[in-house]
Amino acid sequence: MPEAARDATTAQPRKIKYRKSKARWHPSMQAIPVPGIRRMVNMAATMKDVIHLSIGQPDLPTPPHIVDAYIDALRAGQTGYTMDAGLPELLVALRDYYGKRYNRKLTRDNILITSGATEAMYLAISATAAPGRQFIVTDPSFLLYAPLIRMNGGEVKFIPTHPENNHQLDPDEVIRAMGSRTFAIILNSPNNPTGAVYPRSTIETIVEECAYRGIQIYSDEVYDHLIFDDDDYASVLSCAVDLDNIMCISSFSKTYSMAGLRVGWVISSQAAIKSLRRYHMFTTSVANTPSQFAGVAALTGDQQCTRDMVNIYRERRDKIMDLIDETPHLTGYKPGGAFFSFPNLPPHVDGSDLALRMLKETGVCVVPGDAFGEDTANALRFSFSTSCEKLEEAFDRIIPWMAKQQF
Ligand SMILES: Cc1ncc(COP(=O)(O)O)c(C=O)c1O
Repeated sequence: MPEAARDATTAQPRKIKYRKSKARWHPSMQAIPVPGIRRMVNMAATMKDVIHLSIGQPDLPTPPHIVDAYIDALRAGQTGYTMDAGLPELLVALRDYYGKRYNRKLTRDNILITSGATEAMYLAISATAAPGRQFIVTDPSFLLYAPLIRMNGGEVKFIPTHPENNHQLDPDEVIRAMGSRTFAIILNSPNNPTGAVYPRSTIETIVEECAYRGIQIYSDEVYDHLIFDDDDYASVLSCAVDLDNIMCISSFSKTYSMAGLRVGWVISSQAAIKSLRRYHMFTTSVANTPSQFAGVAALTGDQQCTRDMVNIYRERRDKIMDLIDETPHLTGYKPGGAFFSFPNLPPHVDGSDLALRMLKETGVCVVPGDAFGEDTANALRFSFSTSCEKLEEAFDRIIPWMAKQQF
């Protein structure tokens, strides 16, 4: 035993004392940012008469036939686990739905049902991110990606997008960013927080280059139906020759207003799904069973409900574009999908500070840009998952208040 481990006076082995400390989280927990949104929402909860333009989920009701299918499943005793890959009827419904939509031959073994797209993204990223592996992510991006990559030791390479060109992704810039360490790229079209929808040429160019270089593509397509201007939605499933380096991730949350029912999926090569299925058993094991029955009803039922929702969101998108244009100090643009706009404030204005003051002084709650990226501190995210009347009421407060700001 080394001398240092003996008590100097008695020469007896010294008892090692551990200092009591707070809970010892895994160091990877450091990668989870302190959520700026929390501060806003906590403060809003203490205030009266707050208008929320901060909501990240649909405000429109779930179509009744989907709710009925959920209740019917419960009443029929469908309260046990499903198979680990998912409810067979849902796997078949998804296979047929995607096969027809993108004219692509899929089997049930290409699909894994998860607890929302969140679990699908968690599985995909945490099963692959590792030291030495670089992931290309847009800045801004949905707040889950970068922390998850970093928690698992991966490196994030941000590619900035800007309101001046509708937050579009330049495929040549993406290709220039690819290097020997690049392992994957995360695509999200329509995008949260910008609402940008990438044209087919962008997706095709990136997919082709990634296939050539062996780079993985994780495509988060949860807003794939909330498209306002362009009917030709470019899913990676309609651009890739094979699925070897592709994971297409989506869910029912946005398309059918089913966020709380928690059903999503990954579509990929059979080999990838086989591995993810094993991992899934060690995370959530299976998705909610009655919700999966509700999902079957959503996919196989009348799709007019989704078209109606899209028409409502489009009207709101047009309204918020006009309102943002009328607002001093905001640089707006045209979001093509989802239900967000992400206008810029003048450079060097701290969006976090401004959003907090705006909440206190006008009672309108928006999300500061720094929640979504490194280079986006001077932006604000406005959600139009609320009625046109509420949008007007909110901007009746915001516009005169912004006019008084001196930057
Ligand atoms: C881009 C994006 N991906 C994934 C999710 C999570 O979706 P789900 O409810 O299916 O977990 C969201 C939710 O806001 C999102 O905006």
